[in-house]
Amino acid sequence: MQPSKVTAETIRASKGRTKIAALTAYDYPTARLLDECGVPLILVGDSLGMVMLGYPDTTHVTMADLEHHTRAAARARPQALLVADLPMNSYRTPEEAVANARRLLAAGAEAVKAEGGVAIEAQVRAMVAAGIPFLGHLGMLPQHVLEEGGYHLKGRAEAERQALLEDARFLADADAFAMVLELVAAPVAREITAAVPVPTIGIGSGPDCDGQILVTNDLVGTFPWFTPRFVKPRMQAFEGMRAAIAEWRRSLG
Ligand code: KIV
Repeated sequence: MQPSKVTAETIRASKGRTKIAALTAYDYPTARLLDECGVPLILVGDSLGMVMLGYPDTTHVTMADLEHHTRAAARARPQALLVADLPMNSYRTPEEAVANARRLLAAGAEAVKAEGGVAIEAQVRAMVAAGIPFLGHLGMLPQHVLEEGGYHLKGRAEAERQALLEDARFLADADAFAMVLELVAAPVAREITAAVPVPTIGIGSGPDCDGQILVTNDLVGTFPWFTPRFVKPRMQAFEGMRAAIAEWRRSLG
């Protein structure tokens, strides 16, 4: 259990002090378990589309899905900061972003995350102006996977590196309390981390971010049919469950 309630400001203030551990949860038991493990940031990510709902990517996830899973995770009343993703097409205008972010807060989230930097400037500034704690997300943006034709490492080309730095500086200036860097080339993630005053939380972006985030299912092996290359699972929970279920079935004779 965390010693006291984690807020967006706690996460912001941890830059340069403690490495931020962040994991996903989409339900009550996982949120409760992560909280008992002292994980300070829990994300109800739109990755739930793949690991909970059986979609091929995050582009099918709706506001109703995110509200439902946020309500479930929030019932754990975690000491951790509970962040929920704004799904694809839920923040096309500043008004839509604020309205949908408020729906996620009403479902129990304490902050929201959306994908993009300067491209969603008006939306980010509107949410922050409305008092909604905002977590940025740069690098590979899974909601754009179809246009991009896959999950590609970002920042190797000079133009991409500069655009990422510009986006990161914008998010810090707009008062995002932290930013996720997904599949950013490790030297560029290190450079962004040094350049901005708010924490970077990496996923597949090397070891030099201010924190790391993973999809919990990848870490513990509860979605064994696909594991991203950058994840080293710490256990294969489904293999243990498979053995237990098979043994029970055999025990019936
Ligand atoms: O949806 C998600 O789980 C995420 C993390 C992987 C950063 O956005």
